[in-house]
Amino acid sequence: MPALLNADDYRLRARRILPRGLFEYIDRGTEDEKALLRQRASLDAITLTPSVLTGHRERSLATRILDQHQAAPLVVAPTALAGIVSHDGETKLARAASRVGIPFCVSTQSVTTIETIRKGAPDARLWFQLYVWHDRTLTDALLDRVAAAGCDCLVLTADTAVAPNREYNRRNGFSVPYQPSLRSAVDGILHPRWLLGVLARTWMRDGVPTYGHYPDAYRSSVTRLAMADAVRLDGSIDWNDVARLRERWTGRLLVKGILSVEDARKAAAIGADGIVVSSHGGRNLDCLPSPADCLPAIAKACAGQIAVLADSGVRRGTDVLKYLALGAGAVQVGRLPLWGLATGGEAGAEAILRLLLQEMDTAMGLLGVREPRELEGRAAPPAASHR
Ligand SMILES: Cc1cc2nc3c(=O)[nH]c(=O)nc-3n(C[C@H](O)[C@H](O)[C@H](O)COP(=O)(O)O)c2cc1C
Repeated sequence: MPALLNADDYRLRARRILPRGLFEYIDRGTEDEKALLRQRASLDAITLTPSVLTGHRERSLATRILDQHQAAPLVVAPTALAGIVSHDGETKLARAASRVGIPFCVSTQSVTTIETIRKGAPDARLWFQLYVWHDRTLTDALLDRVAAAGCDCLVLTADTAVAPNREYNRRNGFSVPYQPSLRSAVDGILHPRWLLGVLARTWMRDGVPTYGHYPDAYRSSVTRLAMADAVRLDGSIDWNDVARLRERWTGRLLVKGILSVEDARKAAAIGADGIVVSSHGGRNLDCLPSPADCLPAIAKACAGQIAVLADSGVRRGTDVLKYLALGAGAVQVGRLPLWGLATGGEAGAEAILRLLLQEMDTAMGLLGVREPRELEGRAAPPAASHR
């Protein structure tokens, strides 16, 4: 087996292991995938200016986010259905993140519940990503469970008012709830490692994989066609709902999916502790600007008031450093840990995170930077870098 030396190696290995429907669900964007290309192109165009002959020997990635110490300015982003990428995938991600000293954000749409993840990863720093359900009393009950499980940060996803248009999922017969088709059955059979190691194992223990947090009465097992109205994502939430959430949730609150200064200011005014500048990994709206292009103005407007995190498109340690240099205090990674999980389970997820940290450390050494804070002001915009 060739060694896995970078994120793309992991991605290619994951492509062989996972059924095509699941691989593309993770890998691809939306519609014509322009947002996906744009977020990469703008990261690629940024350069970082080094300081040479600094004489620094020591470097540290350690940082503080939301008044907490972290080993590095990274967060494992919330990703739905990580539990069908590997058996008990979410618990494995939590443990892997914990071992490298960073938080793991559990998705509302995880396969494993927050309580089970907590049991399997007692020391992990868990955040929770919230999709607000139509029935707010059910959402409130979920929040109580999240608080009881010791999650100190709630991440409200604000950029998914309606289901995005992902044609490849329909072509591949990949949908939640799952609609059985010849194509998806053949896809599974052609990937026996996944079929036996993930699907069959999960099925034998828990039945058909489901969205674990959905209340028992509404749990849409992947073979049930109709998802109850009560647990449909509520596309009508507005800033008043965020204000109510702020009153109800006593822990840290981040709003994810911000791409304008105006919305960042609204989040700060409502009392959010921070925002995530994100295009949802290029998966939702295809005409969105790239987060790297929006970040500098947003970070400037929020400086000293709220935490600014960023995500979308990270494939190398230098991508993380670019987001930090543009003003982010920390960076989320979504697909990378999933590639690690697919290729090597918990150890694979940890290995790809460590690879990213190693790349960050090497780049910091070459930039003459001792700590993430010193990256500020080193990003040159595309125009300058082409001169
Ligand atoms: C398979 C997959 C599932 C995702 N599910 C969610 C989710 O449930 N909630 C959410 O807020 N974001 C979700 N995201 C978006 C991520 O949180 C994050 O914004 C994005 O993956 C960052 O881009 P990257 O994958 O290029 O790092 C998902 C992303 C992927 C790849």
